[in-house]
Parts: sequence; structure tokens; C-alpha cells
Amino acid sequence: MLYKYNLAVIGGKPLCGEVTISGSKNASFPILAASLLVDGTVTLQNIPKVQDIINMLTLFGSMGSKISHVDGNIVEINNADISIDNMQYDLIGSMRGSILILGALLHRFPEFQLTLPGGCNIGKRPIDFHLDGFRAMGVNITQQGDVIKFSRSAKLSSAKIELEYPSVCATENFMLAGSLAEGTTTIINAACEPEVVELANFLRSMGAKITGEGTDTINVTGVKQLHATEYKIMPDRIETGTYLAAAAITRGKITLKNVDYPSVFEIASQLIAMGVDITQQADDIVIDASAKLQAFDLVTGPHPEFPTDMQPQFCALNSVALGESKIIETVFENRLQHIPELNKMGANLERTNNEVYSSGGNILTAAEVEATDLRAAAALLLAGLAAKGETIIKNAHYLSRGYESVFSKLSNLGATLRYL
Ligand code: EPZ
Repeated sequence: MLYKYNLAVIGGKPLCGEVTISGSKNASFPILAASLLVDGTVTLQNIPKVQDIINMLTLFGSMGSKISHVDGNIVEINNADISIDNMQYDLIGSMRGSILILGALLHRFPEFQLTLPGGCNIGKRPIDFHLDGFRAMGVNITQQGDVIKFSRSAKLSSAKIELEYPSVCATENFMLAGSLAEGTTTIINAACEPEVVELANFLRSMGAKITGEGTDTINVTGVKQLHATEYKIMPDRIETGTYLAAAAITRGKITLKNVDYPSVFEIASQLIAMGVDITQQADDIVIDASAKLQAFDLVTGPHPEFPTDMQPQFCALNSVALGESKIIETVFENRLQHIPELNKMGANLERTNNEVYSSGGNILTAAEVEATDLRAAAALLLAGLAAKGETIIKNAHYLSRGYESVFSKLSNLGATLRYL
């Protein structure tokens, strides 16, 4: 589970040097779930060593998956003999991505039960879209408290599933379930996030028949069987964006290696509009943020709109950038818990419902603050890197859920950090 720690950050220095981006956490979840669909050994490269993925692998181990770590970021996994008799249910409640095993388990087992998934407390995070879609595919679902029972009398059937909202994990769950279902499953109002496209590429490498990923309509034609594969997972676009924002807020100059530029286009465009210099060099990005930052409005939304997972970091950034700006969070109803914490550092942010107004031009000062979730912790870390003095971030361990080796990566960029 999560090893708890606080972090001291001595800020006020520009970051400089090189940082290598790890594999995508949010692409790893559905790809690991997809490995449950085949009996052979799947080899995954560039798997990030972050707590949520470690928990997902531990959950698979509790089901009898045979997992070998070829090296730090390469995993071989064989799920031929899995069983749900000894599943470690508490791990399901520790992360949102665990909901993605649903589609795959439904193909293997005609009847089982799961507990509700967990994840950051950034909203109610219901799973009604997932349950409605699986009912349409012929699954009988009953819920008692946090326990949900699933049963099917026949093979999963395809369905035409129209999503009320382009939900990322719901889209991914129906791609997984549809890949072995009878007939063609159509997902309407599908999510277009890069991680959805990555899952389609992975499933096709196992023999799945999928078209339309990256658009709002995805068709998945079920096949009799999928086969094992070897695959390298895409770089993490939110980790990339967070280091870009860290360079910007400290007015530094860093090179990010092993990035996927198209997947961070929206984030890079926002930063360029704010006045930083960003150049792409093959799989690297060089950011030079020595010039003064101009604050810029942003509204979060489903891809290709600005990613909600970067909203907390940009609240910190806009508070120091020059000029007024407004940030509107439209995806999650409770993803502004970092505002009062940033204000303890002099960010001067005013929240009204899901909107944040920033006067801009603030000089942040060190304070003791508390992280409430993964990306809020990232925002406080960025603020601490910019503020003069020693900022104490309580519950900084949230960072470990989504940022691999964040302490050493930032230290190598010149940051002064200390575990408490
Ligand atoms: C994925 O979560 C990501 N997590 C999140 O990243 C990301 O913020 C989110 O997509 C949006 O981009 C993973 O991929 C593991 P949604 P997901 O379903 O799929 C509502 C991070 O920091 N909704 O697209 O759970 C929901 O409440 C994390 O890395 C329903 O109402 O998000 C939200 O308001 C945080 N019913 C909206 O849809 C449902 O059944 C979008 O959620 C499902 C979702």
C-alpha cells in the first residue's frame, strides 16, 4: 500500500538539467487489464514503478498471475491460471484503474463480485456508465453497499453503448470487453484521450479488431481468441506536463527525454502562450522559461481540451505569472482542494464553485501545506519549488501514486528536497 511521508522543499532556484519521462500510468492500467484477456505471457516495457501500478500488479498476483520483473520497467505477466478466490479486495478500493479488470474478468468468469474502485477523492467518481454498458452486453449486475455482483448466462454480447459523458475508463472497459464479445460493440461519445488510442494499439497487437480510436465513435469487433504480445508503453503525458510546469514556475531550463510530443500538445501550447520557449528535438523537449510568464485563462475538458490532470499545477503557475487569469474545472466536481493550501503560500487564488480567479504576479512564500490527492500534491510541490524558504508538504506520499522516482528526478534537476 502507500508508504506515508511528508516532504520538505527548499525553493527559489531555477531547475536545470535533464529528466527522463517514465511510462504512462493511465495507459498502463488498461493495458495490464488487457493482459487478462490472453493465456500467454505478455511482455510490457516502460511500465512505470508508481504505487498505483505496483498495487495493480499485487492485485493480479493475488489472483494467481505469474509476474516476473525482467528489470525495473519491464514486466512479463501470464494470467492463464488466474482465479478470483483469493483476490485482494482492499487493493481494488485503492485505485480507480482497478475498474478496468471488469471487462476482462467477465470473459473469464461467469459469476463474481467486486468492491467499488478507489482513486483520488476529486469527486464522487461513480461507475454507472460502466455498469449500464455491461448490462447492455448481457451482464446481470446487483449492488449491495460497496459490493457489486456480476453474472452472465452466456458469452458477452456486443452492444451499441452511448456514453453520457466521454468517460476515459468506461471507454477503455468497453474496448476490453468488446474485443472478445460476439459481434461488434460500438462506443458512441467515446473518450479520445491518448491513453485510449494507446489501448487500441495494444489490443490490435494482440489480434483485436478495433477502428475509430481517437474519435468519438469506436467500433470493436469481437474475435474468437487474442494472442500474447510484447509492447512498449507510451511516455506519461501528465508527468511530462508536470515537469514542463516545474521548469516554468522556477524559470528554469530543462530537457525532457523520452517524451511523446503530440500527447502533450495542449499543455505545451498553453505554456508557449504564457511566454516560455519550447522546442521539440526528436523524442526530447527543451523548455527555456527564463522569460517572464504571462498568465493565461484555461478551461479543462475531455481530450483534446486542456487535461484536468494538469489543472492543479496550472493554478500554482498562474498565481505567479503576470496578469489576471481564470481557470475553470469542468471534469470533476471536487478537484480544487489545493486552492486553500496554495493560498497559505500567498497564491491569492479566489475560488467560486468550479472557477478560480488569479490576480497573478504573486511571490510565493514557504509554508506548511497538506496534499489531498495526487495532482494537488504536484501543485504544492511546484509552488514549493518556486517559493523562497522551506515548504513542508504533508501527505506528500500521494506523489508516489503517479510520479516515478520524483525525489531523485527533481534532485537531479537541482531541487533541494528532504523526506520528513
Ligand atoms: C481517468 O479517470 C484518469 N484515470 C484520470 O486521471 C483523469 O483525470 C480522468 O480519466 C479524466 O481525464 C485513469 O485513467 C486511471 P472519467 P476516469 O470516467 O476514467 C464522471 C490522475 O490524476 N463519471 O473520464 O475515472 C466522473 O465522475 C487521474 O491520473 C460518471 O459520472 O475519469 C467525472 O466527472 C485522476 N460515471 C467524468 O465522468 C461513470 O461511470 C469523467 O470521468 C464514470 C465517470
